[in-house]
Amino acid sequence: MAEHTQLIDAINIRTAVRAYDNEPIDDDTARQLEMTLQPINLLADLDIQLVRDQPKVFAEANASGHLTNAANYLAIVGPKDDDEAKERAGFYAERVVLAATLRGLGTLWVAGSWDRAEAAKHCRVTGAQELYLAVVVGHPKDHLAYQSKSYDELCEIQRAHRPSKSYEQFTALMSDEAREAAPAWFKAGVEAAMKAPSAMNRQPVTFTYNAADDTAAAHIDPAAGDEHWALNDLGIAKLHFQIGAGQGQWAWGDGGLFIHK
Ligand SMILES: Cc1cc2nc3c(=O)[nH]c(=O)nc-3n(C[C@H](O)[C@H](O)[C@H](O)COP(=O)(O)O)c2cc1C
Repeated sequence: MAEHTQLIDAINIRTAVRAYDNEPIDDDTARQLEMTLQPINLLADLDIQLVRDQPKVFAEANASGHLTNAANYLAIVGPKDDDEAKERAGFYAERVVLAATLRGLGTLWVAGSWDRAEAAKHCRVTGAQELYLAVVVGHPKDHLAYQSKSYDELCEIQRAHRPSKSYEQFTALMSDEAREAAPAWFKAGVEAAMKAPSAMNRQPVTFTYNAADDTAAAHIDPAAGDEHWALNDLGIAKLHFQIGAGQGQWAWGDGGLFIHK
């Protein structure tokens, strides 16, 4: 795994991890994660915090068997009642997820499988902020065996581990002709977004390519039924798209444009 260091590699091998080894995240690994987190918080205007060794936050999900040994998490904290910040949270916290993936760690976004009140006790949330969501982080179960898997094996696990909407569904607002004529960077962006996590795997984001000005746009699909977490999932999908497409930048918001560079 070690020679695979690019963010696109992380996208190609990441899956939601629900079972972890009962082994702490050591200080050195925590420091490395913090070094990723701090500049991201500055860029994102968020306050994402790494909290270690608080299994009580996941007591119910661990006891039911839905999760195993979940104990550490990223607390995704940002400004209250701010839709754009919720989208940024998806975008930038997923960037931390990909960094953790490259370090051989497992991750799981959680909206339901945690005790939010308990989680809030172990992080800073000011009166102007709220705790949006968390991402469980830890050593995947049997992590030594996991780390000895080849990159190709991990890609195959990612490819086969869950159903995905098709490329055509992800570009449902485009005609067959427009889809055919779209540039390779757009296709690579959509393919990376197809591998993104989303609440209950609803995959609520579609993409279009506009040949007239060579831009892409991302849209929330209201039919996907992801009204609670659509903005977060929009941010996650945009990050994956951007990494898949190579150079370029998004404007925030539903319908926001991507300019490829
Ligand atoms: C915002 C959000 C909330 C999620 N909440 C939960 C959760 O509470 N419990 C859970 O087991 N998985 C949760 N997931 C994980 C999704 O079920 C998972 O990402 C999706 O099924 C796609 O699978 P993948 O991540 O392996 O690609 C959540 C994902 C996102 C993005």
